[in-house]
Amino acid sequence: MRTARRVAELREVLAPAPARRESIGLVPTMGALHDGHLSLIGRARERCDVVVVSLFVNPTQFDAGEDLAAYPRDEERDSALAAGAGADLLFAPAPDEVYPSGFATHVQVSGLTEVLEGASRGPEHFRGVTTVVAKLLNMVGPDIVFFGRKDAQQALVVTRMVRDLDFPVEVEVCPTVREPDGLALSSRNAYLRGDERQRALALSRALAAAERSVAAGERDGREVARHAHAVMERSGVEPEYVELVAPDTLAPVDTIEGETLVAVAARVGRARLIDNTTVRPR
Ligand code: PAJ
Repeated sequence: MRTARRVAELREVLAPAPARRESIGLVPTMGALHDGHLSLIGRARERCDVVVVSLFVNPTQFDAGEDLAAYPRDEERDSALAAGAGADLLFAPAPDEVYPSGFATHVQVSGLTEVLEGASRGPEHFRGVTTVVAKLLNMVGPDIVFFGRKDAQQALVVTRMVRDLDFPVEVEVCPTVREPDGLALSSRNAYLRGDERQRALALSRALAAAERSVAAGERDGREVARHAHAVMERSGVEPEYVELVAPDTLAPVDTIEGETLVAVAARVGRARLIDNTTVRPR
């Protein structure tokens, strides 16, 4: 696997692909790779001839509360893992390659970014995500870009951006990879210390409780949320939000009639964790 640090080099490596009728897949990451990332790379390997993994800890999507400098970084390890999962090219640019001095252009999706994570973290977060993803799409020019359902709102926001701005790319959203006990894999799980790892199970347990209550016939969105909320509190975690929303618009769901996204966020120790599931009436 080759590593490119500059856009010019990346483009040089990828330039022959279209003439060879080779498809390009892109998996954008911020590194600290785990099996969730590797499942996306594996899926890209199945579907594409050339697999590009980007590794860039994007400063513009961090909120004031989260320490950008503390985000786990280990390029050597990430590089070996990406290669092992089938990546052909690692694109690992320095910050000034992505944000040259005088950088002044942003991409912002309205509406979808103003709820859930957008409401909790502020509008800068998704503006940072969409701007960097737009740039990565322009740099790499992939046929397919892969995202994880773990960050369901992010996947939805990017899909909307791609549609609204006519990026010539397919967005594939892949299933959430979990630990055997249900904890969704996340680079931020590395922040969990001592009993926090156990308490972090509050999120997936709350989602499982929501699934059970809908399966048992509950149709009132607020009741399901209240139930999930209580499960989290019993696990010693105060939720930032537990919300039931429409999976395509993120509008609040009062009565569960069709597929509904249940999204949760909570701080456990230093880690701010999110998770989600979908429920539907039988
Ligand atoms: P990062 O958190 O590194 O995640 C990279 C990709 O891996 C995202 O699409 C995310 O949804 C996916 N992912 C994370 N945990 C997962 C899990 N447990 N199962 C399946 N997929 C999982 O998300 C970002 O980086 C950044 O916002 C980025 C898109 C790279 C833009 O900077």
